[in-house]
Amino acid sequence: MNNSSPNVYRNYYRLRTANQWRKVQAESGEPGAIRPYLAGNWKMNMTPRSGLALAARLFDICKGIKDVDIGLGPPFTGLSTLAEYIKPDFLKAEYDIGRNVFLLAQDVFFESKGAFTGEISAEMLAAIGVDRVIIGHSDRRANLGKYFGFGSSVARRLSNDFLTQSLSRLKQKDDADSKAIMALEHLLAKENEDVLAGLASFLGGELRDRAGESDEAINRKVLAALEQGLQVIFCCGENREARENNETFKLLERQIRMGLEGVPQRLIHDVVIAYEPLWAIGVGAKPATHEQISEVHDFIRNLIMDLHGEQFAASIRILYGGNVKPDNIADIMTIAGVDGALVGGASLKATDFGQIVRFGLID
Ligand code: 13P
Repeated sequence: MNNSSPNVYRNYYRLRTANQWRKVQAESGEPGAIRPYLAGNWKMNMTPRSGLALAARLFDICKGIKDVDIGLGPPFTGLSTLAEYIKPDFLKAEYDIGRNVFLLAQDVFFESKGAFTGEISAEMLAAIGVDRVIIGHSDRRANLGKYFGFGSSVARRLSNDFLTQSLSRLKQKDDADSKAIMALEHLLAKENEDVLAGLASFLGGELRDRAGESDEAINRKVLAALEQGLQVIFCCGENREARENNETFKLLERQIRMGLEGVPQRLIHDVVIAYEPLWAIGVGAKPATHEQISEVHDFIRNLIMDLHGEQFAASIRILYGGNVKPDNIADIMTIAGVDGALVGGASLKATDFGQIVRFGLID
């Protein structure tokens, strides 16, 4: 028996009738039934020790839960400790859960080894028991520029001094690019002083606000992770500006087409998509409305249908992320296109994340 409140299905099939996606309730464990995925992205929080304590409290609260998948995403430093703890045999004995608990990394680099100081490869993650990796999170897509100073570094390169020196170096090279020389000479001409200053200010600002991982880099990460046998949570989502300019769908389509380009059919089943609108993420933001989530999830699923066929589109899990909390998860899970959540802040509290994992259950 399904011990859940009406209309909130813990497990379900997804059908498409009259051009609309619908959920039809299923019993847990029925062949082909969809299992929601509740994933915690801890971001840059928790030491190995505090992460372990969080996981232990969470599993206490979730004892016996087997009908959904649970993902825990500590920072790189917490992965090994948690991997040892959540290996199935241990958890099965203690909590009667385990095979449905997965270890998530928050990022991966696409090269397999070499001089990439500070980066971690898919091979390294797989070797310590990581199951799945979050790729393309908006923290990395959009927010890196302001921390890493791409903007000021570009502004500096567009200064008169820097360009004058670059021009003289360039002119000494045998194979100098004549177009580059022409452009630099043009920019450095006295009458173009204002153009150069304007360009420095514009590009500096753009890169400060927007520079981060590109669709191309994200795509390389997706392919590297999948080829290594890791599963992927592929994140996409629009910022406030795109939503206000009615560019949400155009942007999501670009992110998804480019991010998942070239994923072979045999590996596409290892991809979960997370829709995380930037304006709905973090402290002080409001989650997207039921209608907004529903509309975007249908859009994404229809796009996946165009790319990979209806049968796969019906089964791919598409999560929502952005201020998911114990008090809104049940409502979000009634949406026909939603298969779980990628949870930030609330995943750091065992009671909150535990309630999210137990959505719809009558206690
Ligand atoms: P919050 O749940 O804190 O809004 O974060 C969402 C998120 O970015 C998860 O990846």
